[in-house]
Amino acid sequence: MPRVIFLPYDIRLEVPRGTSLLAAADEAAETVPDDFFVGELCEGRHECGNCCVEVVEGAGNLSPMTEGERRLLAELKAGPAIRTACTARVQGDVTVRIPAPVKHPADSGQARMQAHP
Ligand code: FES
Repeated sequence: MPRVIFLPYDIRLEVPRGTSLLAAADEAAETVPDDFFVGELCEGRHECGNCCVEVVEGAGNLSPMTEGERRLLAELKAGPAIRTACTARVQGDVTVRIPAPVKHPADSGQARMQAHP
């Protein structure tokens, strides 16, 4: 099974191929401190960006971006290493980092993502 590493906690787990990064993060969250969290507000509808993670290694081992994900990340002006955890599915080993918060264009200034610990 593919291995997923979540930084900065260095949480390592193996998940079945095709598991979303969000599902992997939920599984990882059960074993670590309370502040480990990948959020989701829109349940994968590409409206919130709350689930964004930075891919540190293994970007090619994730499923291709969907059009909805691509559109949202463009709106967020997210860097090329950012993926939405609700959409990206694990195909092979990958290392991701829970990044610093970004602001959604429609926001009134409230961060949509988990602050980096
Ligand atoms: S849960 Fe909203 S974009 Fe992923």
